[in-house]
Amino acid sequence: MTHVVLIGLLAIITIAFSDGATSCNKRSFGETSFVCACSTQSCDTLDPVQPSTSGTYQIYTSNIDTDRFTLSNGSFLPGRKSSCRKFLNLFTNPTTTITIDRDATQQEILGFGGAFTDATGINIQKLTEDVQIKLLESYFSPDGIEYNFGRVPMGGTDFSTEGYSYDDTDSPDPQLSQFELQQEDFDYKIPYIKQALEINPDLELLASTWTAPKWMKTNGAYNGGAIKNEYYQVWADYFLKFFEKYDEEGISFWGVTTGNEPSLALVNSAINSVRWLPGGMKWAGENLGPTIRASKYKDLKILMLDDQRFFLPWFPEAVMKNGTEKFIDGISVHWYWDTIVPASVLTSTHKRFPDKILLATEACRGDKAWEKAVLLGDWSRAEDYVHGIIQDMNHYVQGWIDWNLVLDTTGGPTYINNQVDAAIIVDYETNEFYKQPMFYAQGHFSKFIPRGSHKIDQKTSNNGVEVAAFKRPDGGVVVVVMNKNDSPKTIIVNDSKSGHIELKLTSKSINTILYW
Ligand SMILES: *[C@@H]1O[C@H](CO)[C@@H](O)[C@H](O)[C@H]1NC(C)=O
Ligand SMILES: *[C@@H]1O[C@H](CO)[C@@H](O)[C@H](O)[C@H]1NC(C)=O
Ligand SMILES: *[C@@H]1O[C@H](CO)[C@@H](O)[C@H](O)[C@H]1NC(C)=O
Repeated sequence: MTHVVLIGLLAIITIAFSDGATSCNKRSFGETSFVCACSTQSCDTLDPVQPSTSGTYQIYTSNIDTDRFTLSNGSFLPGRKSSCRKFLNLFTNPTTTITIDRDATQQEILGFGGAFTDATGINIQKLTEDVQIKLLESYFSPDGIEYNFGRVPMGGTDFSTEGYSYDDTDSPDPQLSQFELQQEDFDYKIPYIKQALEINPDLELLASTWTAPKWMKTNGAYNGGAIKNEYYQVWADYFLKFFEKYDEEGISFWGVTTGNEPSLALVNSAINSVRWLPGGMKWAGENLGPTIRASKYKDLKILMLDDQRFFLPWFPEAVMKNGTEKFIDGISVHWYWDTIVPASVLTSTHKRFPDKILLATEACRGDKAWEKAVLLGDWSRAEDYVHGIIQDMNHYVQGWIDWNLVLDTTGGPTYINNQVDAAIIVDYETNEFYKQPMFYAQGHFSKFIPRGSHKIDQKTSNNGVEVAAFKRPDGGVVVVVMNKNDSPKTIIVNDSKSGHIELKLTSKSINTILYW
């Protein structure tokens, strides 16, 4: 077409899977794209990022048709744009220009990860040990997507084989004398959390409760109801006991939420829950906060909300007054109704509480009643994840934690039949696991944006692509660009310090561009 495109293409030398990385063992299940199958024989890996020399860039691409983390590289062109291209743009698909301002730093990035649910452990346990290790390394190792966050349910969730808490006595036990970790902790959580910590010692853990013991609740059930007033302090003591018990197992935590999705209790959901209205949340300032701060675990980050965008910013505004705000380090938010509630509520929450952490702590696809739970190889779910992460990061969110790390081919186990999809699906019958497009979607961020990176400013000239840009602690710039179009898309990435890159993104692709 033009000489500029030609030079751009010539500069790109595909060096995929050099240095001994293993490539994707593609498997199609008739969906829009493919999974990468991992077995005793093989599992795809991805080498750690190596900074490139100044004046050059790297680009990792995954797309609907052929690629998973395919690495190419090339060189920057000088700052000036050719007028010839400008002229041609009048007649062809307009080029999108992404202008990077690497000095305009915004929020710090805390990390990426997923949840160590009971279902996750049950599914991992079904694999032979060599395949289990490949699975955990896929998520946490330098040859994997380098997750550094894990969410740990305190007790059961809908992704357990039954409802339970840590103090299921028939009569009230306000001394918590019967508090014990359960078999699920020892069989499904602790062993895999420990292995993940061995693989990535920088893994940080966030704990969340789903339900309290029945005797502590107004309705005497695991789902719905609130904490009885007389047990507010006991519920805080229960949290503390959890951290002590996990400590005894050698596992320490970065943070805790005030409880998963309190709104579930308002809609009579079958999922275990504890209802909190803003007034009741003075519990965080009067009980949970003081109890944690007076303990050995005083540095735990306490995140409130742990629920949908609907509650922003009014719920935190109603809670963070009268001193409660002193005990709250941040606000955690879930993904499920993002299509209905605009991301601007995140920005207004950040503006109202600029010193508080904003963290995305749960998402999954296949969650809606009319959807099939697991779609092996579906590309649109990867796009939904990338869209969600880019949108959140462009609205002050500091990290992103997926829901179940691992589910089975039915999307469980879940004792209340709440099957959904996950980034890794285990096939018991073949002793394999499948890395879904959603796995790579998250890896396009988690692998390349280490903890301590910052979101940076970026302007994109038209809406043909979705973009978020970051600066790594080592000075590298990371630009994640998604092309959802059915055709290739030419983009220019323009950095006043480095010059510009011209790239042709493949159709339906996720791309991570890196330069130093
Ligand atoms: C691209 O990668 C190849 C193979 O690793 C390397 O030899 C070459 O120097 C790289 N080029 C640039 C511009 O970084
Ligand atoms: C890059 O940005 C600079 C400064 O804004 C501008 O002068 C230059 O023309 C831009 N280059 C391209 C290729 O868009
Ligand atoms: C804050 O304190 C005032 C005065 O004691 C009280 O009326 C109000 O309900 C409190 N608000 C919250 C959220 O606790």
